[in-house]
Amino acid sequence: MTKRYHLFEFEDLSWFPDLLRQNMMDFLRFAISKLGIYEPIVPLLQELLARSSQPEILDLCSGGGGGIKGLQQLLVNQTQQSVTVTLSDKFPNIPAFELVKKETSGAIKYISQPVDATNVPADLTGCRTIFSAFHHFQPDMARSILGDAARKRVPIGIFEGAGKSYFEILAALLFFPLVFLVITPFLRPFRWSRIFFTYLVPLIPLCTMWDGTVSILRLYTPQHLLQLTKDIPVDNYTWRAGKIKHKTGLKIIYLIGYPV
Ligand SMILES: C[S@@+](CC[C@H](N)C(=O)[O-])C[C@H]1O[C@@H](n2cnc3c(N)ncnc32)[C@H](O)[C@@H]1O
Repeated sequence: MTKRYHLFEFEDLSWFPDLLRQNMMDFLRFAISKLGIYEPIVPLLQELLARSSQPEILDLCSGGGGGIKGLQQLLVNQTQQSVTVTLSDKFPNIPAFELVKKETSGAIKYISQPVDATNVPADLTGCRTIFSAFHHFQPDMARSILGDAARKRVPIGIFEGAGKSYFEILAALLFFPLVFLVITPFLRPFRWSRIFFTYLVPLIPLCTMWDGTVSILRLYTPQHLLQLTKDIPVDNYTWRAGKIKHKTGLKIIYLIGYPV
């Protein structure tokens, strides 16, 4: 599938209740961290950190923190260096951020004020990452996120936990309902709202199925991503994009950029 369709996602709507958004992000964090979906990108993160002025990752659009959580420990194990990770989001999910902070004994911190990925405050200078969220941005916004990092000469890594295939859409529609039925009681932090809006009024599974399907349709392919970077007039900054295979056969689309 090469074309990009930018349909609406519930989680992007400003009137969409935070309670449902947070429950959906908790599911995403659970799924991503259980499968260790981002493990194959550790070498790419190492490459970015090597080009960063400090061993610091500023994760943008963190949602429930699912993307970066497993990676922090892998990075420390493989580099034998401490790596500071800070979670941030335009709609910060504080209970989930607190949980990640607690589970990592404070190795992952968070910013409790909203941080907009299209306008990152100048004092946040760490290497930037965006996991499974870049497809939320229309091309102009997407370009300005990449351009901002390039102009400030900080490395940036864009990672999407899917490869943009029809199989993934089928999986979102067929497997998500079953998975929700089984895993909901085990999701953390525990919320009564999750039980209510899964088993009695199934808004969480339905909205997640819709958003999951639309996310695949919205994904930028590696070619789209490189095309976006063509209009960023910054010298001595390099870009690379591609797909990496996870042990389950799933693919991860990535774009990395850093000063040279
Ligand atoms: C699909 S979720 C992210 C998933 C998360 N990174 C993960 O790996 O589990 C997308 C997130 O992007 C956030 N978001 C949307 N627009 C944003 C913006 N302009 N700046 C920062 N965050 C934004 C949403 O609040 C949501 O939490």
